[in-house]
Amino acid sequence: MSQTTTQAPARNQLVSPETEQVEQKLASLRLTGAAAPLQLGKSLDHFQKTDSTPLIGTEFARGVQIAELLKAPNVDELIRDLAILVSQRGVVFFRDQELTIDEQKSLGTKLGELSGKPASSKLHIHPVTAEASELGDEISVITSERNREYVASRVDRSTLSALNWHADITFEPIPSDYAILKIHTLPSFSGQVTGGDTLWASGYEVYDRLSPSFAKYLETLEAVHEARFFHKVAKGLGNKLRSDIERGSPGNIGGHLEAVHPVIRTNPVTGWKSVFVNPNFTKRIVGVTKDESDTILKHLFNLIQLNHDLQVRFKWEKNSIAIWDNRSNYHTATFDYGKEKRVGDRVVSLGEKPYFDPTSKSRRQALGL
Ligand code: SIN
Repeated sequence: MSQTTTQAPARNQLVSPETEQVEQKLASLRLTGAAAPLQLGKSLDHFQKTDSTPLIGTEFARGVQIAELLKAPNVDELIRDLAILVSQRGVVFFRDQELTIDEQKSLGTKLGELSGKPASSKLHIHPVTAEASELGDEISVITSERNREYVASRVDRSTLSALNWHADITFEPIPSDYAILKIHTLPSFSGQVTGGDTLWASGYEVYDRLSPSFAKYLETLEAVHEARFFHKVAKGLGNKLRSDIERGSPGNIGGHLEAVHPVIRTNPVTGWKSVFVNPNFTKRIVGVTKDESDTILKHLFNLIQLNHDLQVRFKWEKNSIAIWDNRSNYHTATFDYGKEKRVGDRVVSLGEKPYFDPTSKSRRQALGL
């Protein structure tokens, strides 16, 4: 009787030739982040703030204005500490912000620059953003009206809303470090402003819920992230897909909208390990069979989606701002409102090429928990 061995497809059978070309191009650039975990300084200590949950989320007290931090004489120290706080807590919230679009972009640039990102990483230009859009290439206007077609399937109550958990733009070879979302128009129900909350989940804690031997195995793997569905979205919006420009980094170019990243990623700011796959964009683990890939991904997605004790839910008010670290956290919008408008502006900045440092620690390990 002859014996057959189960074979996994080779990497080049799972990724497009364009992805491999981009990887070769990136090999000559310095794309890593800060060399060591950064220490949180004391510059933000005198501002009152509360942790939203033990694991994730911190909210600054009303009255703290980001615009004033940006004008302070010690702006670099303040924004560097803010970046470190965001990376440690996953997401940080501010209320009643008077921040202009230019200030929002400046903050998006400074957060990464002051925490050690590569010089070639700028603000992201989303592939579906219209050329000559009203607020410029580097702002994604998050609008219920314009995106109604796109989100329609997600509003369908027969599909699971948890399928929309994601970290922003992980289909890019150089994905995001930080994102800043300001919501200025909110839906209401029965005369009250309510609906459209956003939830975040901690990828650090997802890692900490793996058994040591399974975590060690996952540390050897990489996964394919892909978002070619954006071709359809761009068409639906009547926009040309931004495939012929660098979308904020020399690595983010082309229409293949695909990248390969480590399954476990080290955050260069905290030095902590995080699970780095998400239900929206991660399609396939490399080096295993499709069944094995599906099973592993399903388990990891379940850890993100079903553990409400590693999530935080934020209720927006007019001009609230959330700043999150996309390297180690996931988020999802809530489509629980009807035809009302919900509108905001999002800046997504680009960080390092994702990497796994075998000497890095898990969050609990680093904090001695
Ligand atoms: C996003 O996915 O970045 C937007 C989240 C939201 O609209 O609540």
